[in-house]
Parts: sequence; C-alpha cells; structure tokens
Amino acid sequence: MKRAVYPGSFDPVTKGHLDIIERAAALVDELIVGVLNNNAKIPLFSVEERVNMLVEVTGHIPNVRVESFSGLSVDFVKSCDARFIVRGLRAVTDFEYELQMAQTNRSIDRGIDTLFFTTALQYAYISSTIVKEVAYYGGDISGFVPESVAGHIRRKVSEKQRENKV
Ligand code: PNS
Repeated sequence: MKRAVYPGSFDPVTKGHLDIIERAAALVDELIVGVLNNNAKIPLFSVEERVNMLVEVTGHIPNVRVESFSGLSVDFVKSCDARFIVRGLRAVTDFEYELQMAQTNRSIDRGIDTLFFTTALQYAYISSTIVKEVAYYGGDISGFVPESVAGHIRRKVSEKQRENKV
C-alpha cells in the first residue's frame, strides 16, 4: 500500500491545497492530510474546524483521509505507516523553507522522502494568510477557497470582529 501524508496548517484549506490533494491522491493508494495541532501561530480556526472543513471539501476523493497531529511531521508519517510527505511549491520564495524542511525531515528519518508538486498557476499567489486578510477587510474570497470554506471564513471573521468591538 503506497501511502503519503500531506502535512500543513490548513488555516483554512484553499483551492491551491485542494488542487495538490487531488493530484497527490491520484498518485498513491492513500493520501492522509495531516493538520498540525501545535502550531506556534494562533490559528483562526481550531484544529477540529480545520479537519472538518478538509473532510467537507475532500469528500469526492475516496482515497483521502484527514487527521490532526501534534509533534514532528516525520513521527506522524511513520505512525501512518507512510513514507512520503507531500508539499506544494507556489513560487521560488517557498523553495528555501521547503528544501530546509525536506532536508531536516530526511536527516531525521532517511526512509521518508518529500514529493513536491508545483501549485497550479491560477493558485500560485494564494495563501491561507492572504485569504484571511482579504476576508477581514470584506473582500471577495470566492475565487480562493471552496464555497463551503468561504462561508465558514466569513462567519468566523465576523464573529472575531464582533468580539473585538465588545
Ligand atoms: O502549512 P504550513 O504551515 O506551511 O505547514 C508547515 C508544517 C506543518 C508542514 C511544518 O511546520 C511541520 O512539519 N511542523 C511539524 C513540526 C516538524 O516536524 N518540524 C520539523 C520540520 S522542519
């Protein structure tokens, strides 16, 4: 069974992530999307909300499973009985950080390889951070995230804005 893990923050999942998930799932028997739980950054969505959104938008891909994890990605990969990590490269600016992560992960465990997918051109400029910023200022995010996710973001952002006004 060829298994790969796509680890990330997914705060929230974007159309760029989804494109990588679809393409990676076509290459392996099972793709596990791993949502990092102990992120240093304070996320907009809880880990459960991030997992639920991913489950919602990957329902049409039968060999995708979504799980949360804490700690090192390589340990999660091993616990899934997988040996590949999937990551997307949007632009050269991603390369240095991604190469460092891939080298670190391989030096921790030589049995684990990272597979890089070049992000589809139409999504190359999208990041979860940019999407949240556009949503915060009331911009249209429908081109960046799946429709159901856009609804969750709008609700969450207006919740946060109400909280901050009180
Ligand atoms: O979506 P992101 O935030 O770019 O994903 C980054 C992620 C979660 C893949 C990375 O931060 C990670 O693997 N964190 C877990 C801790 C770890 O394994 N660190 C060593 C790799 S440098």
